Parts: sequence; structure tokens; C-alpha cells
Amino acid sequence: MPVRRRVDVWRLAPWDDALVWYAKAIRELQRKPVLNPISFEYQAAVHDRMRDSGSTGNLPPVSERDAFWRQCQHGTWFFLPWHRMYLAYFEQIVASTVERLGGPGGWALPYWNVSDLARPETRTLPCAFREERLPDGSPNPLRIDQRARGVNDGDEVVGRGDVSLDCLCEPDFQGRASGGGTGFGGPPGLSHVGNPVRFGRLETMPHGTVHPGVGGTFGHMSYPQTAALDPIFFLHHANIDRLWVVWRRRDARNVDPPDRAWLDQAFAFHDANGQPVRHAVSEWEDPATAPLPFEYDDVSDPMAGQCDEGLFTWATTRRTPVDLASTTGPLRIADGPVRIELRRAPGDAAEVKYDGISRAFLDVEGITGHRVSGNYRVFLSYVGKPPSEQTLVGVLPMFGLSPAADDDDRGHAHHQFGPHRMSLTYELDVTGAIRCDGVLAVEGLVVTFARVARRDREHGRVDDDEPLWIERIRLTLA
Ligand code: C2O
Repeated sequence: MPVRRRVDVWRLAPWDDALVWYAKAIRELQRKPVLNPISFEYQAAVHDRMRDSGSTGNLPPVSERDAFWRQCQHGTWFFLPWHRMYLAYFEQIVASTVERLGGPGGWALPYWNVSDLARPETRTLPCAFREERLPDGSPNPLRIDQRARGVNDGDEVVGRGDVSLDCLCEPDFQGRASGGGTGFGGPPGLSHVGNPVRFGRLETMPHGTVHPGVGGTFGHMSYPQTAALDPIFFLHHANIDRLWVVWRRRDARNVDPPDRAWLDQAFAFHDANGQPVRHAVSEWEDPATAPLPFEYDDVSDPMAGQCDEGLFTWATTRRTPVDLASTTGPLRIADGPVRIELRRAPGDAAEVKYDGISRAFLDVEGITGHRVSGNYRVFLSYVGKPPSEQTLVGVLPMFGLSPAADDDDRGHAHHQFGPHRMSLTYELDVTGAIRCDGVLAVEGLVVTFARVARRDREHGRVDDDEPLWIERIRLTLA
């Protein structure tokens, strides 16, 4: 098997051959009917899709849809391996289409590294995804209208603080489903979109934050049901997959889960001939020996020397999380920053001794809402302190919360999303923000949520999000 070499899209010429051929292949795949497993619409549905209403006579049979559609794994330790396999088969389909159209062999998916601080332009969409036309003058299928306003004109997709790579410092792949560290790759369990889930650190940022950055309130990238209809999706995910390789390589102690429950889990796809294939996670751990092998042009470590060594000690000693403070009752987050005070249990001491190893986590649990997208910055401060003295502790993407376009033909929103009510749970490491002189300052803590506002030249503020609800916020020590 030839090894496909994935390269940085921002190091290619604006219309490098790889991008011209990607565009031509996408156009070809978009022409194929959804009954064909290699059609663009079918491939996007493999990730996720709105509920199909009305006549479904022109869709694949229900049994086939159940087996192959709406399969994306989010908020679990299968997030990385599932998307790796999905991308590799999609890449094979595009590559064989390129060849059928008379293009070169060995086409590989470029990746979009949004976190290169030395090159701010990488936080905008690559030109080939914004131009109206291909170099030959034909319409460009890589540009779609269903994006945040301004993004197709070259506006920044995300701020530099919204795509930080702190996740690479996380020592464990595997997180805990009930709190005390969500891990680099996420907690155990199978979970398609819509379950109450807890996101791993890479999945939260930069993976999650880029989605609403590109999609805005209503665009395709903001919702799992439509995300893979935007051709940039696949370059974004190639970068996320690359960061998994970077993480494994940066320290010998960074290893994938050894558990059979992870290694033996299998997922089904179609190959470029439209034939069903099924693979276990274990076959895809190493890109060089995977069934469809691939590699990246750059897997150097952007966080070299910037991580806290103590995290590895924590990883071998961590304990069950204990609650330090929390909110009481659900919270409503609407426009403008919202400040929320966390309460200690009556009688608890104002300070907690810090043992030098434990980590303090802020759990933001049970986020729900309808037509909510966007990213929310989270700050910590103390009662009585001015807002200028707050510390940014993380960014929470509302990717996966509710489908903007889940409306019927008359524009009425459907409020059921199958058996599950959409709900997100995030966890942030806030140790550095509350640690001082051997104690953790936990009395009078204030959490502030501020939506990352998007503006554009003509319209000013351009977000139309509705409020979101948070069931509970907890500060824990583990
Ligand atoms: Cu399954 Cu970035 O989405």
C-alpha cells in the first residue's frame, strides 16, 4: 500500500494541484445520488445527518442507514479513532475519483493547522475554500455559503487564544466519565451525538472551537448533522488526527488505552469501490501500518518545554474527585458576560491545602439550548475583584448542542432530537488560576461566561444565538 503524505494546506500555493483536484473530485461526488455510498451526500451522512422526514424512497434502506449513517463518535475515547478511519476512507474515495478524472495518483488530504501562532493567516480559511471560481473559471465547490458571515471574505475564524494546544500536555489518553480529568482522548464509552457526554481535551480545543468559528450560528460546520457537508471539515479533522500523532510522539509516556474495550471496538465504512469494510480500533493506532497507511509532513512538538512535568506524577496517583464548591440550581446564560458565584458547603474552610500534585477542575455540566452555537470563554475571579483581574481558564464550544436547521419545510423547529435531549458537559483544569503559596483559594470564586462575539464590517454583531442553560458548575479536586 502506498503511504499517503498529508501536507499543511497553508504551505501550499493557493491553488496547488492537490486543492484543484480536491475541488474537482468533490464536484464529481456531489453529482452522485445519495444511494451511492461514495457520493458526497452519503459520506456526509456517515458522520451525521438531520432526521429524514417525508418520503424517504430515494434514500438507502433503513437497515443500511442504521448500519452506516450517523456514526460519528463524540465525547468519548472513540472520538479520535472513529474520525481517523472515517477520514482515511473518505480520502481513498477522493483519491480514486481524482484518478478517474484523469488526475495524478497518490492524492492525499491536506490538513489545516489553525494553531500556528507564527502565521496568523492560518486562522483564516485557506483561499481555495473562499474563491468563487476554480482557476479554470468553473464554480468552486469548496466554497459554500453556509458559513459564519465574513469567513468567506477572509475574516479570522477563531482568536489565537481559542485554538491553544494545551491539550498536548495532558498525560492520559483516557479520561473519566464522572470527572477528575477528561483525558487527551476522552472517557470510555460509545457515544454518538446527542448523549450527555464529556469531551476529551483535544476534542474541546482546538477541535471544538473551530467548528462554530467556521459555521457561526447557522452554518454547516456548527452542527454535527451538517458539518461534513463543508469540504473544509476534512482538512480540519486531518489536523486533529495529526495532533494525536504529535501527542504520542512528544513523550514516550503518552500512550493509547491498552484496554480491550478500546482496541477491539470495530466501526463500519465503505471503501472507494463502494464495498463495506469493518475495522477494529487496534488496526488504526499506527498510521504507518494502518489498512490505508498515511503520514504527516510535520509532527514536531509545538508545546516542547511548555508543559508541567508534575502532570505525569498526577497521572499515576490521581484519586476520586471531591467537591470543593458548586452552584445551586440551573443557570441561564444569555447575551453579555454572566458572573456566577460558586458556594462552598456551610462550615467548609476558606482555603484548601495544596499537596503539589492534585488538580482542580471546573466541571460545567448539562449544557442545553436550542439554536445555540458559538464559543464561550470562561474566566475565574473572586467576589469583589474588578473584572480586569479575572483569569481565562478555557473556551467551551457549543458544537453538537442543537441543529440549527432542524426545521420542517415551513420553518418550524422540531424540539425532539430522537431519544436523547442534547446536553454537553465540559471540564477545565483550573489549578493554576486558584493556586497560591501552597493553598487553593476556593472561597468567593466567581465564574464568568462570555460569548465570543463575531462582528463583521457591515452588520456589527452578527450572532443570533438563543440563551443556553447550565445545570450545574462544580469545582472539584482530584
Ligand atoms: Cu465528528 Cu469535528 O466532528
